[in-house]
Amino acid sequence: MSHAIELDDVHVSLGGSHVLQGVSFSVPTGGVTALLGRNGVGKTTTLRAVMGLAAHTGVVRVLGHDTRGLAVHRIARLGVGYVPEDRDVFAGLTVAENLRLAERVEAPAYDDAFALFPDLAARVRQRAGSLSGGQQQMLAIARVLLNRWPLLVVDEPSKGLAPKLVGEVAEALARVATTSTILLVEQNLAVVRRLAERMVVLDHGRVVHQGPVGDLDDPDLTRQLLGVAAAR
Ligand SMILES: Nc1ncnc2c1ncn2[C@@H]1O[C@H](COP(=O)(O)OP(=O)(O)O)[C@@H](O)[C@H]1O
Ligand SMILES: [Mg+2]
Repeated sequence: MSHAIELDDVHVSLGGSHVLQGVSFSVPTGGVTALLGRNGVGKTTTLRAVMGLAAHTGVVRVLGHDTRGLAVHRIARLGVGYVPEDRDVFAGLTVAENLRLAERVEAPAYDDAFALFPDLAARVRQRAGSLSGGQQQMLAIARVLLNRWPLLVVDEPSKGLAPKLVGEVAEALARVATTSTILLVEQNLAVVRRLAERMVVLDHGRVVHQGPVGDLDDPDLTRQLLGVAAAR
């Protein structure tokens, strides 16, 4: 299978506004594809359409399967883990309890998750609500790693984290990317450059650019697409 995700003419309307206006792109198997664009252009909605969480028209294929008519849990079980934008860990539960609730397979890969995030291994009995933002993000990622899904969809993992933690989360995702395909929404262009090989750029609910991440070397293009100067 050459593509982990394929979207063909995907439209989403939310609260009367036409948020995705015919989004088509493919995520090749292996490595990291970044989904970029200014705030409010439809990145999160695109990930939610992939996961079956946003009602849409058009076709979404996940790991070769047409997801039309599949319930959200059936789509996940095709082999795709989702790390949502808001992290959404259970603050009142311990790290261990959060992880146990995320188990979806017979033999969850605790060794992998704890090898990647030793900070979590040392805090299994701690309440998730008492973790730092970076540790909560690591817990959110560890929850999907447990199931060794071949495909991960990750929404703004560095959002709100201190620079040192951004580096740690990026480092962990780089290691995950050696064995899983990742579709990554990320505003931090240094992280995008570090992790991704390819990028898809949205504007107003449409794909306006696709290409290698090296296209960010062009400051005029980067400013035009993202409204920011390129990070080097
Ligand atoms: N439930 C909703 N009802 C109405 N509009 C929404 C809803 N959720 C998101 N939107 C709008 O859809 C657009 C795209 O949102 P989103 O996909 O979250 O953008 P991004 O992740 O790129 O910042 C935004 O303009 C946002 O205001
Ligand atoms: Mg978003």
